[in-house]
Amino acid sequence: MLQLIKIHGLGSSGEGVGKIDGLAVFVEGALPDEEVLAEIETRKKNYAVGRLVEVVKGSSERVEPFCPLYKDCGGCQLQHLSYAAQLKWKRQQVVDAIERIGKLDGVEVFETLGMENPLRYRNKMQFPVGKNLRIGCYARGSHKIIDTTSCMIQNAGNDKILAAVRNVAKKFNLQPYDEDTHKGFLRHVMGRVGCNGELMIVLVTVTKNFPNEKNFVRALLKELPEVTSIQQNVQTFHNNVILGRDTRVLFGKPTIHDKIGNLKFNISARSFFQVNTAQAEVLYQTALDFAELHGHETIIDAYCGTGTISLFMAWKAHRVYGTEIISSAIADAKRNARENNIRNVEFFVGDAVKVMPRLANSVHLPDVIITDPPRAGCDKKVLETFAAMQPDKIIYVSCNPATLARDLKILGELGYQTKKIQPVDMFPFTSHIESVAQVKKVIRKTARLGL
Ligand SMILES: C[S@@+](CC[C@H](N)C(=O)[O-])C[C@H]1O[C@@H](n2cnc3c(N)ncnc32)[C@H](O)[C@@H]1O
Repeated sequence: MLQLIKIHGLGSSGEGVGKIDGLAVFVEGALPDEEVLAEIETRKKNYAVGRLVEVVKGSSERVEPFCPLYKDCGGCQLQHLSYAAQLKWKRQQVVDAIERIGKLDGVEVFETLGMENPLRYRNKMQFPVGKNLRIGCYARGSHKIIDTTSCMIQNAGNDKILAAVRNVAKKFNLQPYDEDTHKGFLRHVMGRVGCNGELMIVLVTVTKNFPNEKNFVRALLKELPEVTSIQQNVQTFHNNVILGRDTRVLFGKPTIHDKIGNLKFNISARSFFQVNTAQAEVLYQTALDFAELHGHETIIDAYCGTGTISLFMAWKAHRVYGTEIISSAIADAKRNARENNIRNVEFFVGDAVKVMPRLANSVHLPDVIITDPPRAGCDKKVLETFAAMQPDKIIYVSCNPATLARDLKILGELGYQTKKIQPVDMFPFTSHIESVAQVKKVIRKTARLGL
């Protein structure tokens, strides 16, 4: 059934939101202030989903998408919206989450810090491999793979990696993974681009046994002689997790380097590293500013990855303790500290739920805690441990406004008030939103000791 719908907002995945007979309708591709004709495809009790058929009255913020694959590809969601409007929308998403989920008042949310040139910003690509060696993003809302030769939000180095792996995989007739039958060999191609043009290729495979491995690597090196590292990661499980636990180097070094500000970082295949290097500096500088350090502070950097924030803070602090669940990331963090000549940091491997209480009982209690968890946010127990340690400030770096708002609400109940939030655009043209919140201690509810 075709419906004329007035769109008044954008949902959390960038889809237009309007109403029919009081029922919320989500229409992908529609923008606020537009009137669109949509085919209602799903109608549930609380919402409906429509397919955009025609834009009857367009928005002044509508722009032509730059990518020919945009209509089908699930990688970007906001290419049809001007970049300035994307930044406004991202801030509004944070404001809405803080009000609706966090139920917090008086929080200052600043304008989103965007990029001057928001193209080719991703240093890491991880594309699935499917039938006929199709390699690229998943199509919107499905696991169909869009065969991609160039992605304008990826660093050009990743386009080169993609072309080289595709050519050689075809030549060697590598079997693509079939996720239905759990058969085949090559599951994902991961590419990483570091500073000075360093390139890392990670071939994620189902089995360890790599057919014709030596010749394959030789051929790949011929296609892409400038490559720094070629690795195999084995992911045997029948699930959606991209990387397995075992990684081995097939050629070159196990890490590549990247730079944020004056700091140089080693990055291994499995380590988390911010995908937008230029904006990572903006993000970390915001976290540093919000921490308001004087030099005498003890800091805990929970979820520290390769130690990037720890090292960024270290020169302004007395001591920094970083914790992280992936052991290779902690190995990178230790090496990063050594190579940057930073001695006032210490790193620990483990799950935050277990490591935080141990840390709280064994080191000086922190003046500032930095927390940068994955999308799911912090476990409640972790937040309780933070509060029990009674730091003056908690700086919460988040890639998900919903879990950020939930956790800030919990911290509020534990005596910590959110003062201000700075959204930073780490992922232009996508609906992903990163922000940094400054949270300060207001009430001493629990004794600092006796955790
Ligand atoms: C968003 S990243 C932040 C990394 C780092 N702060 C940075 O900016 O590069 C989240 C990190 O949390 C780690 N992580 C995930 N679950 C964890 C857990 N339960 N305990 C400790 N670390 C965890 C991930 O491996 C990842 O390195």
